[in-house]
Amino acid sequence: MHEFKYKNNHLYCENIKIEDLAKKFGTPLYVYSYHTLIDHFFKLKNAFKPVDPLICYSVKANSNLAILKALVDKGAGLDIVSGGELYRAKASGVDAKKIVYASVGKTEEEIEKAIRHGILFFNVESIPELELINKVACRLGAKTNVAIRINPDVEPKTHKYITTGKLTNKFGIDFETARIIFLSNNELPHLDICGIHMHIGSQITDSAPYIAALKKIVKFIGELKKRGINLKYLNIGGGLGIIYNKETPQTAKEFSRKIIPVLKSTGLKIIMEPGRFIAGNSGVLITKVLYMKKTPLKNFIIVDGAMNDLVRPSLYGAYHEILPLYNPAGSKRINIKYDVVGPICESGDFLAKDRAVSKISAGEYLAVMSCGAYGFTMSSNYNSRPRACEALVIKNKAFMIRKRESDKDLIRNEHVPNFLLGF
Ligand code: LLP
Repeated sequence: MHEFKYKNNHLYCENIKIEDLAKKFGTPLYVYSYHTLIDHFFKLKNAFKPVDPLICYSVKANSNLAILKALVDKGAGLDIVSGGELYRAKASGVDAKKIVYASVGKTEEEIEKAIRHGILFFNVESIPELELINKVACRLGAKTNVAIRINPDVEPKTHKYITTGKLTNKFGIDFETARIIFLSNNELPHLDICGIHMHIGSQITDSAPYIAALKKIVKFIGELKKRGINLKYLNIGGGLGIIYNKETPQTAKEFSRKIIPVLKSTGLKIIMEPGRFIAGNSGVLITKVLYMKKTPLKNFIIVDGAMNDLVRPSLYGAYHEILPLYNPAGSKRINIKYDVVGPICESGDFLAKDRAVSKISAGEYLAVMSCGAYGFTMSSNYNSRPRACEALVIKNKAFMIRKRESDKDLIRNEHVPNFLLGF
């Protein structure tokens, strides 16, 4: 369910005609629906009510401050992976005790900042990291909560770049090493090793890998219990898949029905870290058609949005539905296939390949759907393209939540040394 629908052949976001926004804010433009965002948060919250989890929205999916604030106001915690995300989390006003921090490469400086801020816990991914957190906590005279991120070695059946729970991946700690850590707790007196974390991958559409991973972890928790080690938290990560094309992911309700009994059996406080499930379908990327181009072998729609704005198609071969903002032909597609491409100087710069789209001409607009997660956050300035503008729509009101970068922004942090200036 999302709030992007046609009314009188025009695509709307909630009660706003998106074409009006494109004209007002320019393109490329990210448009988010407040109600779709919040609705997905509550879908998950309600589905998991019987275990009352702390839902730590995964900041990396969409880290715009307005998006974070909207979710934090509804009770969300935040899952962070860097000092920069900690900074954003603080700016959002989220309670420090609702922040969890993962990443295989936390620096000493980042660890110190997070301890000082008093986050709920670190999700720890290696023994050297554990030792460093202990050292920093000791220096600060603190005791810090940590959860061990277990790598359960299961195949999540998603793109290999976003598979994280196999032993060939850099993430997490295998069971054997985790056992050693838990049994030698006293060696790290500044840590309370009080939780277990797992995150096996992203855009997972089937519950089977989750259940397989959870079963292994719950067995491990039972084993620890027998040895007198009682944990407080079980963090089951994120990864819930959404519909981009013809996927049939389990709904939050179906998913919860399957795993709640297992979660309950642990008696632990449950943490979840969804990103895409909450933000994915709440955003679209609007782009303007610059040229229609026909070569002897192909048809191209050349648009002003590019791989620097949305890298998912180039990086993962990801499918995003493409819809015209004005669609007098209704849902009828013309029988010509197009590549929808941006202006960047790479053949890998495309938003769609061999796609049948409705009739479209230069000057008209297209919406690239389901771009609310890993859209803007993965954007760059490649080809010196200023990053896009972001707008948030609530009912019949639209707010600019990040202004378009200017040419000046592109060189703001650059410095030409004196020797090049002839001094
Ligand atoms: N927790 C941890 C530790 C994570 O690494 C991630 C995502 C999440 C939670 C949230 O996962 P989600 O619920 O959004 O699936 N750029 C890729 C996705 C990368 C996911 C990275 N980690 C894409 O565009 O598909």
